[in-house]
Amino acid sequence: MYNSRIIGLGKYLPDRIVTNADLSTMMDTNDAWIQERTGIQERRWVKEDSSDTTASMGVEAAKIAIERSGINKDDIDFIIFATLSPDMYFPGPGVQVQHALGIKTVGALDVRNQCSGFVYALSVADNFIKTGMYKNILVIGSELHSKGLDRTTRGRGVSVIFGDGAGAAVLTREENNSKGILSTHLHSEGEHAKELVLLAPGMGTRWVNDILKDNDPNDESYFPYMNGQFVFKNAVVRFSEVIMEGLVKNGLEVSDIDMLIPHQANLRIAQFIQKKFKLKDQQVFNNIQKYGNTTAASIPIALTEAWEEGKIKTGDLLVLAAFGSGFTWGSVVIRW
Ligand code: ACO
Repeated sequence: MYNSRIIGLGKYLPDRIVTNADLSTMMDTNDAWIQERTGIQERRWVKEDSSDTTASMGVEAAKIAIERSGINKDDIDFIIFATLSPDMYFPGPGVQVQHALGIKTVGALDVRNQCSGFVYALSVADNFIKTGMYKNILVIGSELHSKGLDRTTRGRGVSVIFGDGAGAAVLTREENNSKGILSTHLHSEGEHAKELVLLAPGMGTRWVNDILKDNDPNDESYFPYMNGQFVFKNAVVRFSEVIMEGLVKNGLEVSDIDMLIPHQANLRIAQFIQKKFKLKDQQVFNNIQKYGNTTAASIPIALTEAWEEGKIKTGDLLVLAAFGSGFTWGSVVIRW
C-alpha cells in the first residue's frame, strides 16, 4: 500500500468583493448582525456579467495547483470535482475540467457532498492512490453560490453566509507511509437532510433565475433552506468527534496538531472547536472573514492560503475537518 501526498495547491476567487454593507442595500441586514453571528466581513460573488462558472473557476484553481505540483497535466490519471452548485444538472463539472485543461481521456468523478465534498473527494483520491490504481489525481472544490441565493430579506438567514470560489490540489503517490495523508474518516446522517437543503427537484444553479421568471415568486424551494441553530449544534459535535477519530486512529493527541483547517462554515463554529480543544490561534486557520462560506471550496481555498502564507511546513501535522448538508462530515489527517 502506498500513501498519497499533496504536491500542488491553487485557488481562484472572483474579483468582486461584496461587503456586509453591500448586502444591506439588497436586504434588511447589517454588518453587526452578520459579524456577530458568522464572523464574515465580506465575500466574493462573481460579477453579474462574468463568464465565471463553477467549472471554470475550478479550472483556474487547477491550473495553479498543477503548475505548482511540478508534474505535467498529461501525467494526471484521474479528476475528482466536488461541488453542490454544478453549472448543469448533468454532466457534472469533472468532464468540463478534463476538456478545458486538455487532459487525455482519464476518468472524471463528481462528488456531491456539499460542505464535506472536498474531504470526501480527498478520501476517494487517497484510496485510489493507496491501492495503486492511480498515481496522480487532481482534486477540485468549487462553488458558485451567488446566482442561486435569495437576495431579498426573505433569504437573509442563509444568503449572507455564502460566497463563490474554487480551490484545487494535486495528489501523488508517496512511498513513505509516515508522510502524506495518514487517514480519512467519512460519515453521514440522512435523517437530518431536511435541515440544510435545496428542495427543488432536478436543477442546477444556472437555471434558477430562468425558472423563477415563470415561477410562483413565493416558492422558496428554489433557494437553500437552513435550520441554522440545529446545524450549529450538530456541527460542533460532529466536528469534534471526527477530529478526535482521526487523531485516535493515528495514535495522536490534540497537542500534536500543528494546523487545523476546518471547513469555513461559520467563524463561531471554528472558535467553539478551538476553545474546546484548547488550540492556540496559530493552530487554527480561518479565512471566512474574507470569503464567506464557499462550501466544497472552503477547505482547498484555506489550505492553499495557509500554504501560500508559509504557515504549513514540512513535517507538520494537519487536520482537515468538515461538516455540512446531508448531514455529512469527515476529516483528513496529513503529515505534510
Ligand atoms: N440580518 C439581520 N437579521 C437577520 C438575518 C440577517 N442576515 N438573518 C436572520 N435575521 C434575524 C431573524 O429574522 C431573527 O429575527 P427575529 O428574532 O425577529 O425572528 C433573528 O435575526 C435571529 O434569527 P436566528 O435564525 O435565530 O439567528 P441565529 O442567532 O440562529 O443565527 C445563524 C443564524 C448565523 C445561521 C446561526 O444559526 C448559525 O450560526 N448557524 C450555524 C449554521 C451555519 O453556520 N451554517 C453555515 C452553512 S452550513 C455549513 O457550512 C455547515
